[in-house]
Amino acid sequence: MRGIVKRFPGVLANDHVDFDLRAGEIHALLGENGAGKSTLMSVLAGLYKPEAGAIRVRGEPASFNSPRDAISRGLGMIHQHFTLVTSLTVTENILLGLDEPRFLMRLADYDQRMADMGQRFGLHVSPRAKVWQLSVGEQQRVEILKMLYRGVQVLIMDEPTAVLAPLEIEGLFTTLRAMAAEGKSIVFISHKLNEVVRIADRVTVLRKGRVTAAGLATSSTNQAELAKLMVGREVLFHIEKKPQPAGPWCWS
Ligand SMILES: Nc1ncnc2c1ncn2[C@@H]1O[C@H](COP(=O)(O)OP(=O)(O)OP(=O)(O)O)[C@@H](O)[C@H]1O
Ligand SMILES: [Mg+2]
Repeated sequence: MRGIVKRFPGVLANDHVDFDLRAGEIHALLGENGAGKSTLMSVLAGLYKPEAGAIRVRGEPASFNSPRDAISRGLGMIHQHFTLVTSLTVTENILLGLDEPRFLMRLADYDQRMADMGQRFGLHVSPRAKVWQLSVGEQQRVEILKMLYRGVQVLIMDEPTAVLAPLEIEGLFTTLRAMAAEGKSIVFISHKLNEVVRIADRVTVLRKGRVTAAGLATSSTNQAELAKLMVGREVLFHIEKKPQPAGPWCWS
């Protein structure tokens, strides 16, 4: 992405932003609330049209009119709020909206395909379960399977760990690493420094709509430096505090 500009009434959400993504990498997009992360990736995923700037995919100019358009070019995004139909099964959700010749194959065969794909990427979820029966973590796996089934090469995940329990976060990281190992690229949006340092190969930092670090190798940085890039000043991680005396006036 080059020189991306995206405005909302009264806000310059993306102010001439450049963003590079390599094949087979996990790239974190880091920034405080309102920094413009979701906006930038929504532009890349075909949800928003930028006012200025250009996108190239494998060197070819790309312009997306819809998320469907972006997916057909291999770019898919999973948003913070999922879009599954809860009354349908996992397999039905994955097939939804596709022009599959469904009459040629029994649904059971599709279930098997979904199970195989889940196995390959560590996305364990029963293909025949109805989505309402699933935990939030399992629903996220269905969203990922949906994108994999559409053949995306670039998967953008908007704050995917926000809804997960610690053990589920480990599972997600295993999946993301398996995808990267197959040459797919992952954009991992987050404001959690420890996760960024752990999972990402590189990190781009946004502050108030602008890039403050572009594709920095996570191996050559640390949480303190990233925090500074994110908020624009030194951040104290450890604050020495004397214990407060407890009393009837003290609520916590
Ligand atoms: N649809 C919208 N309409 C109006 N303003 C918007 C819209 N989407 C985002 N904004 C504004 O654009 C700016 C960037 O928002 P964005 O959601 O991209 O930030 P973010 O980095 O994803 O933040 P967060 O960590 O809170 O998700 C914010 O000031 C936000 O209020
Ligand atoms: Mg956001």
